[in-house]
Amino acid sequence: MSDLIGQPISRVDGRAKVTGTARYAAEFDVPGLAHAALVSSTVPRGRVTAIETAEAERAAGVLGVLTHLNPPRLPYHSFEERPGVDPQSGDQLKVFQGPDVLFSGQPIGVVVAETLEQARHAASLVRVCYETSEATTTFDPRRGRPPSEASGEPGESRRGAAVRAFGKAPVRIDAVYGHPREHHTAMEMHATVATWDDDRLTLYDKTQWVNNDRAEIAHVFGIPEDHIRVISPYVGGAFGSALRTWPHVTIAALAARQVGRPVRLELNRRELYTSTGFRPETEQRVRLGARRDGKLTAVIQEATGQTSTYEEYAEDTLDPARMTYACRNVLTRYRLVEMDTNTPCPMRAPGVVTGVFALEAAMDELAVALGIDPLELRLENHAERNEQDDLPWSSKTLRECYRLAAERFGWSRRSPAPRSMRQGPLLVGYGMATAVYPASRAAASASATIFADGNALVRTAASDMGPGTYTSMTQVAADALGLPLDHVRFELGDTALPDAPVHGGSMTMASVGNAVQAACETVRAKLLTDARNGESYGEILRSQGRDRIEATAEAKPGDEGERFSSYGFGAVFVEVHVDPDLGTIRVPRMIGAYDAGRVVNPKIARSQCLGGMVGGLGMALLEQAEWDPRFGRVMNANLAEYLVPVNADVTELEALFVPGDDRRFNPLGVKGLAEIALCGVAPAIANAVYHATGKRIRDLPITVAKLLV
Ligand code: MOS
Repeated sequence: MSDLIGQPISRVDGRAKVTGTARYAAEFDVPGLAHAALVSSTVPRGRVTAIETAEAERAAGVLGVLTHLNPPRLPYHSFEERPGVDPQSGDQLKVFQGPDVLFSGQPIGVVVAETLEQARHAASLVRVCYETSEATTTFDPRRGRPPSEASGEPGESRRGAAVRAFGKAPVRIDAVYGHPREHHTAMEMHATVATWDDDRLTLYDKTQWVNNDRAEIAHVFGIPEDHIRVISPYVGGAFGSALRTWPHVTIAALAARQVGRPVRLELNRRELYTSTGFRPETEQRVRLGARRDGKLTAVIQEATGQTSTYEEYAEDTLDPARMTYACRNVLTRYRLVEMDTNTPCPMRAPGVVTGVFALEAAMDELAVALGIDPLELRLENHAERNEQDDLPWSSKTLRECYRLAAERFGWSRRSPAPRSMRQGPLLVGYGMATAVYPASRAAASASATIFADGNALVRTAASDMGPGTYTSMTQVAADALGLPLDHVRFELGDTALPDAPVHGGSMTMASVGNAVQAACETVRAKLLTDARNGESYGEILRSQGRDRIEATAEAKPGDEGERFSSYGFGAVFVEVHVDPDLGTIRVPRMIGAYDAGRVVNPKIARSQCLGGMVGGLGMALLEQAEWDPRFGRVMNANLAEYLVPVNADVTELEALFVPGDDRRFNPLGVKGLAEIALCGVAPAIANAVYHATGKRIRDLPITVAKLLV
């Protein structure tokens, strides 16, 4: 072993990215490429009664127009077992298979032309008449219904007698928290380039899971999976938006088949708000009961999220309520409100970040009610095991995270009373929160090849949407092979390579990383079996008269999940400055300390955490889809008006890692380091805003308007 794990290696793909040679889905310029543009519905519910395409068909450069009136019927075979990233009940949108309109922005037609401009122009010429029906376009939690059993999320879960314990608690908090619909807002637009060669299909696609892309399209078209190849070497940010295979992928493939040319379909910025998913608007009520010494006696957390009418999207919003703190009496209740909108999907720590926000804001309110320091309150209720699953943690150094971050931040300088700290005219607030995120692992495989020139090639179908998969996997591979980094090339993002699970849920390193390590160890062992001491790989291969040796290995979870509960943990501390006259909020400082198990590369891990903090800043202060219930539509469906943090909003961010090595969870000892960095940021900021101003804003984002009311 060469001790590469734990080294702050710079990104191996950094040069390709900053020089523009890294190719993203829309940039694959296959010969004869034609361009597609969508026609989208403008009503939230109803039927298309007429669709006039003649003018579009006559427009310059147009190769074809597809609507439900002239579509090839697609089989849309159902899955025996649905992919985990798809809603487990309801039916996916079947493109162009009928006149029904299920939401505003639904793709109802596509125009293919020689150029993108011609396609867009022609799409604007398509005239559509609707018969509208009454639509449900408001989010009314009173209409919430339990999730179906198939959704996998419990409608209710309880341990102890929470309602009674809450009733008897000497100190109680009962508050309602909310956040709006939020959108992933990645830099790269979703795009698919589809090209048929007889009955073989190649897709260059923006996806976090090439294997699932292939499976979905095989089911939709009723063709064998091995007739499809999905290629996706680079993903320019996704945050969950590219987990599923959305309808536009089908449309691209359909259009390409129809016009007999390769077709590129790139969604425009507006279409991203309707043709992919989003984080569902969620309202939560949290009731906490405690003894006067701060010991929690009851945790009751209820969440209601939005879903579409045609699919049931449910997320793990209430898991943090069940496992973050020690408490004998816990009740959670989850409800869904169906609306005429596109289906939500996982976005940046889906559900968990929502549940952590409400729980950690309520904990801050409880600390105030008790007159106890917010950090003390967390320590007082620290969970020594997962009480919900009744399992010990595979590892947990959360206490050390609190200590490290608090010390670095200077938490002891905080004076507890709201509005008691100032800097010049500005109100200063200190806030903190706990972060939790489940550690996951799935079966993955990889291949490793050593060549006679002493170089190695390691490959798997995994993705890299930005966290540095290329780099960290190269490190793991070089470490296991005992080779210098520049002797190892790592390839991903292609269904022709060994299968990998979804690049989501912060589990790529725990899953694919262990497969890469296993493949490298296997090929190394194979080669060294009949080698003399001190011979290099190249010398061994040449003496055997071979030009290469290859091995493939699979790594998958065992029964450790039955014996241990595995989570990433963190502690987030922030300082805010609020202008008391203008209500403007700045976040001059944010420090997070994380327990993520082993950290393969502290440099890219730091980037990952800073990115999560910036995302959390957006969630706390900026991000909000402005919803128009008259049309069931997002009004600010663009990057100018859907606000995300820019450099000017971000000042000093610091990520610290508590050394860890969770071999109980997986051989590499990693717990996954991604979504944990987003969790805890929004409540830490909300809590700091309360400390600065004495105002408790429970509805995100915390805007000037809300602060000045
Ligand atoms: Mo993540 S929301 O699992 O990409």
